[in-house]
Amino acid sequence: RQKVGGLIVLFGATGDLASRKLYPALYRLYKRQLLTQHFAVIGTARRQWDDDHYRQVVSQAISDLVDDQDLCDRFVSHFHYVPHDATDLDHYQVLKNKMDGLRQDYETGPSTLYYLSTAPAIFPSITQYLKEANIVNNQGEHRVILEKPFGSDAQTAKSLNDALSQTFNEEDIYRIDHYLGKELVQNILAVRYFNPFIEAIWNHHYIDNIQITLAEDMPIGSRGGYYDHSGAIRDMVQNHILQVMSLVGMTLPEHRSPHSIHEAKIDFLKSIPSYTPEQVSDNIVRGQYHSKKAGIPSYLEEDEVAMNSTTESYVAGRIMIPNERWQGVPFYFRTGKALANKYTTVQIVLKPRHYKEENLLLRDRDKPRLSFNIQPEEGVQLYLNEKRAGQDLLPQLNALVGDWSRESNYAEDPYEKLIYNTLLGDPTYFTTWDELAEQWRIVDAIIAGWEKMALKELPQYPIMSQGPKEADDLLAKDKHQWIDY
Ligand code: BG6
Repeated sequence: RQKVGGLIVLFGATGDLASRKLYPALYRLYKRQLLTQHFAVIGTARRQWDDDHYRQVVSQAISDLVDDQDLCDRFVSHFHYVPHDATDLDHYQVLKNKMDGLRQDYETGPSTLYYLSTAPAIFPSITQYLKEANIVNNQGEHRVILEKPFGSDAQTAKSLNDALSQTFNEEDIYRIDHYLGKELVQNILAVRYFNPFIEAIWNHHYIDNIQITLAEDMPIGSRGGYYDHSGAIRDMVQNHILQVMSLVGMTLPEHRSPHSIHEAKIDFLKSIPSYTPEQVSDNIVRGQYHSKKAGIPSYLEEDEVAMNSTTESYVAGRIMIPNERWQGVPFYFRTGKALANKYTTVQIVLKPRHYKEENLLLRDRDKPRLSFNIQPEEGVQLYLNEKRAGQDLLPQLNALVGDWSRESNYAEDPYEKLIYNTLLGDPTYFTTWDELAEQWRIVDAIIAGWEKMALKELPQYPIMSQGPKEADDLLAKDKHQWIDY
């Protein structure tokens, strides 16, 4: 693979995300020699650190990955720290001088990556000042990478995007959805591309229903301040679930260029209707976790959660796509906190033969299906009906298990992959503005519907369960059942 280098300016360098994800991701790339010696990182944040302290922090963040101390020392020597008030224009001059110096010292070439890992509220000031200080200009390659959340509804997302667009071109804005960096999410595309027989059955003639589950066992913990304003719909559906759904539901473009993949996803997202409040009521279920055990908090007892909060910690839904390919095929999705297990799967449930002779109404888990196991187990399984041993022609479901394994493949972390792609200038696994605008349109309609509903429609579900009973009822109306872990 092509080697990459460049100058990285990291806003929010003292933060948790930088230590947990970004430094390890860069080190992994360095270890694999995908990151050349021609790179430098400027970490910035308000704290008055110096280079030595910063390098200690970076060393600490990657300590689990280090088996060669010299290599580690060489790696951290590329890190420099500039204390910086991101909302003060004067500070950008200091930053600019530092950047010019490091570009020469490390011969980083034309590419500069601005990584915004700060509170989203200051994204607009940062990008505005980058332009005003003539740091981002028409010379060289300037890309910006942003963490979520990107707005809290269509309108705030648009204002943010308008602000960014003053400084960066759309093709230089890399909006992270870390689910797109997951191997097995990318594998959905690979399986569709490389197996024509799969594409041949990828329609309502053969597919019965689709179930996307992003279940989490952890409660919201210390994130109440953020989560209570977000809820499962903004935290997980607006981004991860709709992105995964569009990889499943889009029409596969002839060419695998980033542009054509984005266009295909946009077309798919556009075909998802904006639900009316009545449709929200019929098709979307939400819930809040509830604990009966002393010492284990219910959602409402978590820190920084409003008293009587109606924020959902669980959401499930049904989406029907009114196009020729998907007519009559429900796309079900669900996600929630404090559930029984943490797992992510996409189940493509295939139509069974009607076993009229046995008068058998098959449950979904007994139907043939293609299962994408995204985490924690990774792999693709095809469940086929075969003959039962020692019996006449009666079906029995057997799984053909693909031997996708992290042992034989390099275990690339989502951030490692996404940062590499950004340095390379490959936007395939990032969210474009047009996709994001559609995602907010869909989610805003659901939230507007909820706002019209009475509180009684926010069911509780026990901690460590599969979610509220209402989510089972949603599928039962269509004579379907969730396929659990
Ligand atoms: C994040 C959400 O985007 O994704 C978190 O903000 C969630 O609430 C996380 O826990 C899940 O990611 P993963 O990779 O652990 O499935």
